[in-house]
Amino acid sequence: MNDISNAFDIRSATADDVAALTEFGARTFYESFAAGNTAEDMAKHLASAWHPDLQNREILDASIDTLLARDSSGALAGFAQVRDNVAPEGVAMSRPVELWRFYVDRPWQGRGLASTLMNAVFERARARGGRELWLGVWERNERALAFYRKCGFEKVGQKIFVVGTDPQTDHVMRRLL
Ligand SMILES: CC(C)(COP(=O)(O)OP(=O)(O)OC[C@H]1O[C@@H](n2cnc3c(N)ncnc32)[C@H](O)[C@@H]1OP(=O)(O)O)[C@@H](O)C(=O)NCCC(=O)NCCS
Repeated sequence: MNDISNAFDIRSATADDVAALTEFGARTFYESFAAGNTAEDMAKHLASAWHPDLQNREILDASIDTLLARDSSGALAGFAQVRDNVAPEGVAMSRPVELWRFYVDRPWQGRGLASTLMNAVFERARARGGRELWLGVWERNERALAFYRKCGFEKVGQKIFVVGTDPQTDHVMRRLL
């Protein structure tokens, strides 16, 4: 694979990034999952998760790290959020940190940005004092499942994630840090 590490930079979000993150997060969620959900469930989910007030709060929240990957023009290419959060019921973990959201824009998928962003996530999670990193991923999201396995995550359980009104099964995966 070509070295693309100079083609983008990864840094923490600031309050100046709220509008861009809200637009990017809503758009990438829609593009990733619109085909697998009804329009009503999608609209309900987007309204509940993506609003400048919410992203402003997330960026200012000390228990959350928001990492932005930007291309050389300054446009967002991906983002990740990690947060202090216990693992779902039934999954025992010591010093867990959650990989809450992880999105790479379509033109950047399959080009190595995701792996570089994941390494930045590992670094942040360790800096938070984490020993184990966990995440929830939709059981039907084959590409993300393959990517997370490639990054060393393994399935340790499952949980429900509600999109709009639709309760969906997420695999819970974890990796030692
Ligand atoms: C998940 C995501 C971050 C992974 O980044 P990426 O750049 O696409 O990842 P990679 O291409 O390095 O790895 C994906 C792997 O899945 C494989 N893959 C691609 N499409 C696939 C499919 N439909 N089914 C199974 N595997 C698939 C790829 O071949 C690749 O494996 P390989 O490197 O061994 O060939 C990115 O695809 C993304 O942002 N998707 C949309 C949002 C999303 O689903 N986020 C995760 C929410 S939990």
